[in-house]
This record gives sequence, C-alpha cells and structure tokens, in this order.
Amino acid sequence: MTKRTIFIAVMLLSGIAFLFPQSPVRKLPASTEARIDSIIRLMTLEEKLGQLNQIGGTWYDTKTERLNEEQTAMLKAGQIGSFLGITGAAETGRIQRIAMEQSRMKIPVLFGYDIIHGYSTITPIPLAEASSWNPALVEQSAHIAALEGSAIGVHWTYAPMVDIARDPRWGRIAEGSGEDPYLGSVLGAARVRGFQGKDLLQYGSLLACAKHFAAYGGAEAGRDYNTVDLSERTLREVYLPPYKAAIDAGAWTLMSSFNEIGGVPASGSSWLMTDLLRKEWGFTGLVVSDYTAVMELMNHRIAKDSTEAGIVGLSSGVDIDMVSRIYLRKLAAAVRSGALAESVVDEAVRRVLRVKFVYGLFDDPYRNARPEKEKELLLAPEHRAVARTMAQQSIVLLKNEKELLPLSKGGKTIALIGPLAGNDHRRDLVGTWAWAQKPEHVVSVIDGITAKLPKGSKLIYDKGCEIESDSGYRAQKAVAAAKKADVIVAVLGEAQRHSGEAASRSNLDLPGRQRELLKALAATGKPVVLVVMGGRPLTLQWEADNIPAIVEAWHLGVESGNALADVLFGDYNPSGKLPVTFPRNLGQIPIYYNHKSTGRPLVPTDKYTSRYLDVPNTPLFPFGHGLSYTSFQYSAVTLSSSSITKDQSLTVSVSVTNSGKRAGEEVVQLYLRDDVATVTRPVKELKGFKKVMLQPGETGTVTFTVTSEDLSFYGLDMKKRIEPGTFTVYVGGSSADGQQAVFTVLP
Ligand code: BGC
Repeated sequence: MTKRTIFIAVMLLSGIAFLFPQSPVRKLPASTEARIDSIIRLMTLEEKLGQLNQIGGTWYDTKTERLNEEQTAMLKAGQIGSFLGITGAAETGRIQRIAMEQSRMKIPVLFGYDIIHGYSTITPIPLAEASSWNPALVEQSAHIAALEGSAIGVHWTYAPMVDIARDPRWGRIAEGSGEDPYLGSVLGAARVRGFQGKDLLQYGSLLACAKHFAAYGGAEAGRDYNTVDLSERTLREVYLPPYKAAIDAGAWTLMSSFNEIGGVPASGSSWLMTDLLRKEWGFTGLVVSDYTAVMELMNHRIAKDSTEAGIVGLSSGVDIDMVSRIYLRKLAAAVRSGALAESVVDEAVRRVLRVKFVYGLFDDPYRNARPEKEKELLLAPEHRAVARTMAQQSIVLLKNEKELLPLSKGGKTIALIGPLAGNDHRRDLVGTWAWAQKPEHVVSVIDGITAKLPKGSKLIYDKGCEIESDSGYRAQKAVAAAKKADVIVAVLGEAQRHSGEAASRSNLDLPGRQRELLKALAATGKPVVLVVMGGRPLTLQWEADNIPAIVEAWHLGVESGNALADVLFGDYNPSGKLPVTFPRNLGQIPIYYNHKSTGRPLVPTDKYTSRYLDVPNTPLFPFGHGLSYTSFQYSAVTLSSSSITKDQSLTVSVSVTNSGKRAGEEVVQLYLRDDVATVTRPVKELKGFKKVMLQPGETGTVTFTVTSEDLSFYGLDMKKRIEPGTFTVYVGGSSADGQQAVFTVLP
C-alpha cells in the first residue's frame, strides 16, 4: 500500500478566495471614468436612453439574419445600446459598422446571447456539470463556450445561472448548480472565470452575466415565473451567496429576475439592486432586466402604465431594459415632466459605458467580428475532448447491486432499449439552451456503445416506446429482444423540452409509458441497467426498489454517447456526486439536506415528531451521493486543535483509502454544524470539498482549513457573527454519512 499526503487548503484553493475577497469593489482608472463622463456630457437624452435599450435582433423580431429597416434606423439614431440574439461574426461586424460609422455618438453596441453550456460544442447541462464537483473542469467547459461565443461575434453571455433550486418541479433547475449555496458559489465563480478568462480584453473571453437576481429558483410550487416569498435570512443564507460569488469572481453584469420576492418584484426592487447590490456589495457593473421584465411590472400590478414601469425599473437599478423598449419610448417624457431625474438616467448610462470600456469595445469595436474564427473554433476537436471529459465526470452512479456495472468486456449480448438510446432522439441528449445544435453533431448512445463494443459482443437495439406519447408502445418487441440478451441497458427519461425555461412539471416519474416498459423488461429476469436522462431529479422509488443498477446521465451534450459508453464499460470509473437531493415522491418536495432541526426532530418511535405517515423523511438519494466502481474507506477525523478562538482557523484531516480493485476518484466532502446558536442553524452545511484520485490500495490524506468565515452566520441583526460554543464537523462521501468530530470556539 502506498501512502501519500495530499495537503489541500481547500478553502483557499477551491473558491473561498472568490467568495469572500477583501474588496469586491472594482474601479476603473480615473481617466476612464473621466472619459465616460465626457461622453455622457455630449449625449442627448434620447441617445442616453438608447444605451439603456436592448432589442431582440433577428432571432426574435424578423427571423432573418439582418436587421429590419426600423432597427437599422434606430441604430443610426443611437437608439440601441445592445442586442439580444444576433449571432454571426460577419453579421455582428456589419451591424457594429453601422453604429460606428453612421450614428452620431459612435458608441459601439454590445451583442448579448444565451450561451449557457456551449454553442456548437454543447457540454452537459449545468446541473450535470455540477455533479462533477470539479471547478477546474467546469471552468474549462465555460472557457470553450466563450471561445465559440466569441467566434460567432457575441460579446456577452447570459450565464452563469446561479439560482439555487430546491424544487425539481422547476424546469430551470437544469440550468444551475443545484440546491447548495457553497457548491453553487464555487461553481458559479468557476464559470465566470471560464467565460471571462484571465483578461477580458483577450480574444476568446465573453462578459459573464450572473442571473437571475434574485431567488428566481424559489418559485412557489416549482412553477416557473411564480411568486417567491422568502425571509431575508433564507435569502441571505441560501439564495444570495452565489450571485455574490459570481461578482467577486469578476462578473460585471447581472440579470434581474422575473419573480417577486415578498411583495416586491425583483426587477423593481431598489432594496435588492441599489441598497444590497450597489451599496452593501459595492457592485459597479450593470444590471440588465430579464426579457420584458420591466414591462411585466405592470402585470405584477405595481405599475399602472408603461411610463410608471420604466420609472420604477430604472430608479430601482435596472440599467438596461431588455426588449420592452419602455425606457426608450417613455422615459424622455418622464424626465422632461420632472417625474424622473436625468441623473438617474446618467448613472445607468455610466454603468453601461463602463462595461463597454471594460470589454475593450471603445478600442476595438470589431474585436469578435472575425469570420475566419467560426471555422477554426466551432466544434474544434479539442473542444469535443473537453466536452467528453466533462460528460464523463457529470455522470452519477446511483446504484450498482452485485457489481452489475461495469459491463463485462467478454463476449456478451447487450439489449439496448429505450427511446433515448437511438439516433432519432439525439437532440434530446443536449438538453435545454442548445438552439444552434444539429443532431448530427451529437453522439447517440447507440453510436457510443457500438464504437466500444468489445470483440465478440453483440448489440441488439429496440426503441420500445416513445418518450411521452402513447403511440409507438411496443413492449413485446423490446422484451423479445431483451430475452436474447445477457444484460439489458434501458435508456429512459426526459426529452429536451421537459426542462429549462417554462418547463415545470407536476409529475416527476419517467414520462409516458417508460416505467411500464421498464417493468416489462425487469419481468424477463435478465439483469437491467437503467440509464436515466433528464434535466432534473426524477422520482425513481420504484426503479430504485426493482432495478439493480441505475446511472444518472442527465443531458450530457454532444459527447453523450461516448461518455456514457466510457462509464458503462468501465473505461471511466464514475466519480459524479449529486448536487441536488432526489426525493422519493413529489410530496416530499421541497427536500434538501441543509434543513433546520425543527422543535420536534424525527424520533422513529414517536408519532408527534416532524414526519409523514406514508413516506420516510429521508430522500431516495441524498445530496452528495454517488458511487464508484471501487470503494473508499474513511479514517477518523483529526483536528489540529480541539478549540480555537473566533479569528483562528482549524485544520480538519481525514485519510481516505481506495479499498477496491480499480483506480478511482472520490469527492471528499466537509460539512459543519453550529451546534447551538442564537438563531436556528441548518443540521449541516457544506463548507469544502476536494476530488482526489486514488489507486487501488492507496491512501490519501485530505486536509481542509476551516476559517472564521465558515463559522459565521447572520445574527438577528442580519450582520455576520461567530458565536462561541461547539461545532460538529462531518467528513464523508455524501451528506448522509461521514466521520464526525467536535471542536469548540472559545468566547
Ligand atoms: C430568460 C433568460 C434569458 C433571456 C434572454 C429569458 O426568457 O429567462 O434566462 O437570458 O430570456 O434570452
């Protein structure tokens, strides 16, 4: 047995520096600020409002690749500051030339677009990537997205989505990093660094936009766009940290969300966008509204007409009005009538120009208008290689009885069954936000497995059923195929349309007749491997009770089939861990690991404790869960000291041994609990993690540093504080198990 020590100051290396820097306020040189002021002085009121106006380009308005006459005239008149959805290096260059040569002020326009998980090289959906617990790889994945985004002339991506989501009914859970504020902060920061690169002025970087500010993921009943009602405490403790982390990692832009929070729409909340964001956090960048969110202030019924909606939106801190055109059309009159101070307009324009300076557009407005780059960068082989590694690490092995997986490399017959395995459903494999994706670029499961099929093995494929519709249900044929095989691999789950925006679902079972098909396959008595695809946790209680091996594959992007085949045949030993809790049934939702104790924590023998009559409190698969083809043993936890003062840090060490027969990676997770405090604290909270590779028999020592920031929480006055007393540390391979130790923070 080899012995190796891995000293990892996890807090410093994996993100804490980005979460809590000394000074989050970024300042431009005084000379640039002076240039901005002088530009503003030269602008008419209409031109200023033009900078605050973002219009949907071709994609939304005309469905062609050119501006229509009205848009061209607006551009020449200085009435457009940025575009949404115009792509193509040549086209964006042509449009920029109009702004630079034919508008009076010659202010470059910004091209914004949603590049969420790749443009041509679609990587796994963000929730899947979060399962890798690998910030460096997630950063790389965002970087190739930025390269491809630059290649199509875009400047600004509307990502990362850092909304915490505790409700899998919400379809947009697919776009974020799951339920945990710490993991969400570390990965949000990684994505910002990946999109923006080391230097925003360098080719290949995009401006990042952390969205949707704030708490969009808290929608009641998981229904998209629905009301959010949270205490300030939950907002600050759970929902806000990832936006803050994204800003601290260098994001210059934020998108305000559609939802209200406790009676105030986020896009009309001066508490959120001015008091908290600008004054408390010191944010100097810009806020863009979500699509028509300013106009929707009327639907929220806090504005009686569009003028009022515009005044509320701008004065609360939304600098750019996406698509509503209300600022442009209504606010000049509001300024002239005295209903809105021009200084409020000026301040928003200042922020927009600042971001254009930061991105270097005043020096080179055509920086991304390089058509030759499209050919060079889109779907480049090295991008596909990153997408494959990312997809491998995104896969979570949920269950593996009797080591059914990996599939034997000896001559076996495999029955591959299910709609998502075939070539006709390749589009579904890329998941949400993949407009530009062409199915022929996606490696299907059947193609991935065929390419790896061991010598002497045979593959039989049968679709079995459609994803959702009743027609095409042919269990008998699929069962006949299955009977000829040694092992069945069933690839079932959600279609592309089932997750993402406007894709909430009130039933999270496998859609359509897929479970029925699975039951028929299981009834053959042949061993079944279930591969689940989708954009969210599904309710898989029956599957977990009856199917011996379950692989969560999410929507894995263009390299789906290859990555899955790598895992199924054991060429990649799965290392993914769940970034979100899997419920047993819908009634348990919301269910998340970092809940509070309650006054009556569950006592199995006592009816009058917090529980259900018909389902256990525990999830089906807990946050942080994920198996490997090898096994890991944890030693007891060692602390550098049994007590510390409030400003001291503490190291927590554990030895992890690979006790199986294959090399494998384990995500070692550190959770903390403040045992007693003046406000209720979660039963445990993730505070660090590290992914370590261990050879069979190898032992690694993983050391975490617990800092005073980790010990602190918001007191009754909403100020951060540390209280003396005991803390419990848990270190393990999931949120549900682990080695414990206790230390004391001295008064
Ligand atoms: C979505 C945003 C997106 C925007 C622009 C909205 O409907 O909520 O996430 O960035 O559209 O496409």
